[in-house]
Amino acid sequence: MRSKASIDGHPVHPALIPFPFAFLTGGVIFDVAGRLLGRPAWWATGHHLLLAGLAMSVLAAIPGFVDYVHTVPPRSSGWSRATRHMVLVLGAVAAFVTAALVRGDAAAEPTVLVLAIEAAGFALLMAGGSLGGELVMRDQISVDNRYAGGGKWSDSTATSDEDGTIVGAKANELAVDQMKLLRVDGRRLVLARTANGYVAFDDACSHEGGSLAGGTMICGTVQCPWHGSQFDVRTGCVRAGPSTRGIGIYHVDETDGVVRIRL
Ligand code: FES
Repeated sequence: MRSKASIDGHPVHPALIPFPFAFLTGGVIFDVAGRLLGRPAWWATGHHLLLAGLAMSVLAAIPGFVDYVHTVPPRSSGWSRATRHMVLVLGAVAAFVTAALVRGDAAAEPTVLVLAIEAAGFALLMAGGSLGGELVMRDQISVDNRYAGGGKWSDSTATSDEDGTIVGAKANELAVDQMKLLRVDGRRLVLARTANGYVAFDDACSHEGGSLAGGTMICGTVQCPWHGSQFDVRTGCVRAGPSTRGIGIYHVDETDGVVRIRL
């Protein structure tokens, strides 16, 4: 599912995270090696690398948090994985800040206590980083799926009118088999155009909450990108598992060139 924190379609968080990982890992290595070999210049380098790593962590965390709130499907297994990723990485940052404070300055030799705190931070960083990788490779967070006839990714925010309807799109806005993610009052819906007209359904797979807007729709069937469940977009019924429950669908009207969805 395409990242909300992206520049011209390129997600920012994955582009920034190699910097804190490299700096923090390098800092631990230089501190340990400096202490073992009695090299003050090495542990001073380690301290400066740790400070650079912490600064880059803050920078990388900003787009990461935007993706956590706006990109990861809510109430999904990906969301709980993203939460664990964030907690572990924040724990790592807290450990490295503590190590830097205990140590004081770059000239001070890292004590066994400082190295132990840094080792704990490194372990948390690796565990959190592993979950971050799973978020991309398994949950396809920040992956911009394209498929034949799928058109460009489309994503917008709408508010419901007093009569309980929202304007989803102009009549010719989407091509056949193209989908559009709509964020409405904290909910996420998908408006899609089939050969027989527009349909709307929940952007949440009934299996583990995968975003259907990030999936594939062909001939009136949408396929979830996470484990391949398929649903009839007109009735919401399951066409293929692993899901065993249908998805929520909405009534759609097309009048005067405007597509409206009744919530
Ligand atoms: S979340 Fe598993 S098939 Fe959709």
